[in-house]
Amino acid sequence: MSHSLTELAVEVLTTADGREKTARSHAAAKLWRDSRAAGTPLEIGSALPPDRPARPARPELLAPREMPKRRPGSEHGRIALIHAVAHIELNAVDLHWDAVARFASVPLPVGYFDDWVQAADEESKHFNLLCDRLEALGSHYGALPAHEGMWRAAEDTAGDLLARLAVVPMVLEARGLDVTPGHMIEIFRNADDADTVAALEIIYAEEVHHVSYGSKWFHFLCGRHDLDPAPVFRDLVRRHFHGGLKPPFNEEKRAEAGIPPDFYWPLAEETARRGG
Ligand SMILES: [Fe+2]
Ligand SMILES: [Fe+2]
Repeated sequence: MSHSLTELAVEVLTTADGREKTARSHAAAKLWRDSRAAGTPLEIGSALPPDRPARPARPELLAPREMPKRRPGSEHGRIALIHAVAHIELNAVDLHWDAVARFASVPLPVGYFDDWVQAADEESKHFNLLCDRLEALGSHYGALPAHEGMWRAAEDTAGDLLARLAVVPMVLEARGLDVTPGHMIEIFRNADDADTVAALEIIYAEEVHHVSYGSKWFHFLCGRHDLDPAPVFRDLVRRHFHGGLKPPFNEEKRAEAGIPPDFYWPLAEETARRGG
């Protein structure tokens, strides 16, 4: 009996250990791709994802204000930065499989599933690349505390696919395009850590696609319901996203990913007016 795609998604979501979760994620993505290539795609099915994905006992999860401050220039600071990004990547694996399973009852072209399976597969690679870097530097994922509340965006948008697409790929993952090249990659380049630079460059190149999948399906659904995308996007972000939008924005990469300036600049101006 072959599994449905949503059953495979739920298996990933209910696996706690990071290396094991990402191994299942890679295997599920391969099963999906092979079935598509053979012209006999797996059934989508209707398995329900858990409210919260299973996670390992470590890292300890702390509120952002409880996180220890580290000097970014020190080796300890760089390890903490890689650890924080690994935590984001593991969360992203779950976010993309959740997008596959949670909205499977919405009638969508099969390309929607191709895109999020591909994104989940890439996030799994990103997590392992960063775990490898942590281990090469004498640490490991789970050795340091990590932000709690990463799943909040998923919970806040669990009932609305349009809101999920606006907040997760088009706000949170787009933010990664803003901060990765100028800020993060520079820190490791200055430290002569070529292996971490190489890992971050792979991540940066592939994240553009995840943002573009978000924009693609957001615009698709707006078109289906005859909605004007830019004001609908801004309204959904105001209602479902609890952090402000702040420049600098990587306008070029955002444009490449299909997010024009009128989607985010008005929100950034509102954030600035609130003093946020
Ligand atoms: Fe990623
Ligand atoms: Fe991503």
